[in-house]
Amino acid sequence: MTIDVVILAAGKGTRMRSDLPKVLHPIAGVPMLGRVIDTAKSLGDVAITVVIGHGAELVRERFADSGVQFVEQSEQLGTGHAVAQAIPNFRTGSTVLVLYGDVPLVKATTLQHLLKASSSGPALLSVVMDDPSGYGRIVRDESDKVLAIVEQKDADAETLRITEINSGILAAPADLLTQWLPELSNDNAQGEYYLTDVIARSVSENIDVIGVIADDPDEVAGVNSRAQQAELERALQRELAEALMVSGVTLLDPARIDIRGQLECDSDVSIDINCIFEGRVKLGAGVKIGPNCLLKNCELAAGTVLEANSIVEDAMVGEACTVGPFARLRPGTELANGAKVGNFVETKKAKIGLGSKVNHLSYIGDAEVGEGVNIGAGTITCNYDGVNKSKTVIGDGAFIGSNSALVAPVEIGAGATVGAGSTITREVSADELAVARGKQRNISGWQRPTKKN
Ligand code: UD1
Ligand code: CA
Repeated sequence: MTIDVVILAAGKGTRMRSDLPKVLHPIAGVPMLGRVIDTAKSLGDVAITVVIGHGAELVRERFADSGVQFVEQSEQLGTGHAVAQAIPNFRTGSTVLVLYGDVPLVKATTLQHLLKASSSGPALLSVVMDDPSGYGRIVRDESDKVLAIVEQKDADAETLRITEINSGILAAPADLLTQWLPELSNDNAQGEYYLTDVIARSVSENIDVIGVIADDPDEVAGVNSRAQQAELERALQRELAEALMVSGVTLLDPARIDIRGQLECDSDVSIDINCIFEGRVKLGAGVKIGPNCLLKNCELAAGTVLEANSIVEDAMVGEACTVGPFARLRPGTELANGAKVGNFVETKKAKIGLGSKVNHLSYIGDAEVGEGVNIGAGTITCNYDGVNKSKTVIGDGAFIGSNSALVAPVEIGAGATVGAGSTITREVSADELAVARGKQRNISGWQRPTKKN
């Protein structure tokens, strides 16, 4: 089936009260329009046209590389007028699928059903709502055949009681829409060209309209306000959490996890509350994530424990490492197996070797640390002279005493020892002891000053 998808995204989104076009607002870290485009692409042989208007330049820019075509609707004269802008892009014999940039959670499986139902005439996606107010109502005859969609503002009292509403999502043969859309009238309460009027037109031409009822209202819910955005965010997060649990992940509270990207977990991963996952995150078997952690584009190999309140970004953590609590692994951090990074430690562009420890209150940046190294509390790599960044290299088995400053570029040889409190400015050779601190003087009989009156 050749499918021409039209995504409506020209509206202003006034109620968002935002400078950002509505369809660029994210749900689970992805702009709403991006979600709709991805879902559309998953349907098979699709060509996608996005109808833009308000904030057109920003939307165009953001999706310049997404392979979709854009058409501009300079005045928002209605949904029928909007779809008509895409007619030049319709391919002969195709089926047109109309989607919305602000209806982000519609599922491919639902759309497949709709497409199947639209082989010879229009098929619309509806849903039954307890409170249908504001929506177009689906009018059916005694034998349940769809007759028309009547907009709220055009409906009489009896029609307003109908609880089956139009989602707006519709599929129809391109040749029918190409003929009907330019013939729509705007003689209605809103003075708009309604896409929904193609339903009555179809019925008048004796072409049956199929109504497909979606079973989950969230799937067809649109976002008009920040509150609705937040509702769909929660709905999707709940779904992602459930999928993780089905795949064997322990979530201490599925209501308190946020996944804004792809989270891939091996067996028996456990995630405590209030963790956020962004971009691509991979967790190996048995990984444990403590509460309040933020992980972005990183990989933690099997058996690693990330303790509470830690942040890991663009980093690779080996097997059986311990990180945190309160650790921050910044971009370019690589921990080899069994490494330990403790509380209030920040690392950046740092390789920490097999089994090495940086347990407390340190900054390790632009550094290469060998195996079995112990870095004492409060050690700082002075990697920045105000202009350039320089590197620190620490050999296998070295011991860096607490509160040392390693002024880069500098190299500490394998097995070397640095005395606590040293400021190291030049190379320490293998197995040497370097002490670079003021000598201790003890003054006996020292009297503390006393207060003068
Ligand atoms: C539309 C449907 C209604 C349905 C409801 C579901 C019509 C006439 N009515 O009503 O039956 O229940 O959606 O939410 O279709 N847009 C454009 N250009 C335009 C007009 C709209 O791009 O000229 C876009 C908007 O940005 C929006 C979407 O189309 O994303 C829907 O438009 P809106 O005016 O909100 O339609 P509703 O009145 O909600
Ligand atoms: Ca409207």
